[in-house]
Amino acid sequence: MKKVQDHYFHKARKDGYVARSAYKLEEIDQRHQLLKRGQKVLDLGCAPGSWLQYTSSRIGESGRLLGIDLQAVAISLPPQVEVLQADIYELDRSGAWWESPFDVILSDMAPKTTGIRSVDADRSYGLNQHALWLAEQHLSKGGCLLVKAFQGAPFQQLQQDFRQMFTEVKICKPKSSRSESVEIFLLGKKKQESQVE
Ligand SMILES: C[S@@+](CC[C@H](N)C(=O)[O-])C[C@H]1O[C@@H](n2cnc3c(N)ncnc32)[C@H](O)[C@@H]1O
Repeated sequence: MKKVQDHYFHKARKDGYVARSAYKLEEIDQRHQLLKRGQKVLDLGCAPGSWLQYTSSRIGESGRLLGIDLQAVAISLPPQVEVLQADIYELDRSGAWWESPFDVILSDMAPKTTGIRSVDADRSYGLNQHALWLAEQHLSKGGCLLVKAFQGAPFQQLQQDFRQMFTEVKICKPKSSRSESVEIFLLGKKKQESQVE
C-alpha cells in the first residue's frame, strides 16, 4: 500500500491509528450514522487494522467485530474483536463465526493492482461481488454494506447490483481519500426483505 505522508498520515500517528484509512470510515460514519453501540460488524480486508480500531471504539464492549484479511493484523485490539487470516474467496461457510447475521458489513478490500485501470477496476468489482454475496448470506434485514470500489466501467454495474439489495444507495468520496485516487465508496442502507435468507 502506498504511504502518503499528508495531514491525515500525521493525524493518524497522533491519534494512535495504524493507518490513515480510519478517517475515511469515520467521515462516512459521521455522515450516514453507520456504526452504533452493541452492533455485530464484519470487516473484510481489515489489515493493518485502522478500521478495526475505529469500529471497535464505536460498537463498544457490548458489540462484536470480526475482521478478515489475507495479511496478519499485528496490532493489539480490544476483546470484542476477532481476526481471521484468510482469503474471502475461501472462507469456511460452516465456521462458528457465521452463527448470527451481522448488522453492518464493511469492505476496504483492494486487489493487487497492475496499473492497468480497466484490469484493476474489474478485480475490485470481483471482490465487491463477493462482498455482496456474503451480504446476501450474512447481513441482517435492514443492515448496511459499505465497500470500496474503483471508478471505471464496472462501477455502474455495482450500483445496479446494490440497488437490487438495498433501499438506499449512496456514493461517498471522503475528504481523506485523495482526489487523484480512483477509489470511491458505495454504501447500501436498509437491506431489503426479499434478500433475507
Ligand atoms: C487498503 S487495505 C485495508 C486497510 C484497512 N481497512 C485498515 O484500515 O487498516 C486492503 C486489504 O484488502 C486485503 N485483501 C485483498 N484481497 C483480499 C481477499 N481476497 N481476502 C481477504 N483480504 C483481501 C489486502 O490484504 C489488504 O490488507
